[in-house]
Amino acid sequence: MRVILCDCAGEATARVVDRIARTVSETPEPVLGLATGGTMEPVYAGLIEAHRAGLSFSAATSFNLDEYVGLPPEHPQSYHSYMARHFFDHVDLPEARRFLPRGDVDPGQSAAAFEVALQRHGPVDLQLLGLGHNGHIGFNEPGSSLGSLTREKTLTRRTREANARFFGEGEMPPRSAVTMGIGSIMRARAIVVLALGQGKAAAVAAAVEGPVTAFCPGSALQFHPDTTVYLDPAAASDLRLTEHYREAEAISSARAPD
Ligand code: GLP
Repeated sequence: MRVILCDCAGEATARVVDRIARTVSETPEPVLGLATGGTMEPVYAGLIEAHRAGLSFSAATSFNLDEYVGLPPEHPQSYHSYMARHFFDHVDLPEARRFLPRGDVDPGQSAAAFEVALQRHGPVDLQLLGLGHNGHIGFNEPGSSLGSLTREKTLTRRTREANARFFGEGEMPPRSAVTMGIGSIMRARAIVVLALGQGKAAAVAAAVEGPVTAFCPGSALQFHPDTTVYLDPAAASDLRLTEHYREAEAISSARAPD
């Protein structure tokens, strides 16, 4: 894993935006793996800005990690709505090439259809990932098989409570989601992880420096050949090898951009 310690959340976000924009402009038919969550909102704002400055997504295909089971696309808290609001409604990525698991059909069928689309249009060139407080990626909660494909996963109480802030008062997120599996995520050619804030520090340390274990799904990324993790100082605060990451990055960045 390449660990990039940024001076602030704004710098980490801007570097991720730049990395995605480079993949889009340098790949003839780029396939993007997209994520949701609060951390990603400024990433999409940055990509919309890049689009207004000339970056086109017209040749791109996108795959989103997950969707809540039971929410139709038009539900304001569905990830379909999130993506429309924060990204799709503002850029030229063709509607027919935006893939998200459906939340309003049988979860088994939704997952199977999503895997078929991934096989057909994949592999993903660049997968964007956030990290849950418990180390989840997508909605692969602790205990998820490290080789899993897209399927329905029950959400932990902690995840539902963390995401309740996006729902109305007294409303809770659904009990399960259809999510790309860890095995599906690992097929991406390259992966970027963006984690910001103190609340993510323990998950970051477990994913980057802990043992590879289903207890922390993000730790599976240690097996991926091209993963870069972008952190602000708070999210990096539980790491033990920070001096080494700085030295390594000084050498790597002189040789090849991230
Ligand atoms: C949700 C998403 C994850 C995301 C996580 C963190 O659970 N399924 O893909 O990484 O939220 O979200 P936030 O950025 O809001 O902390």
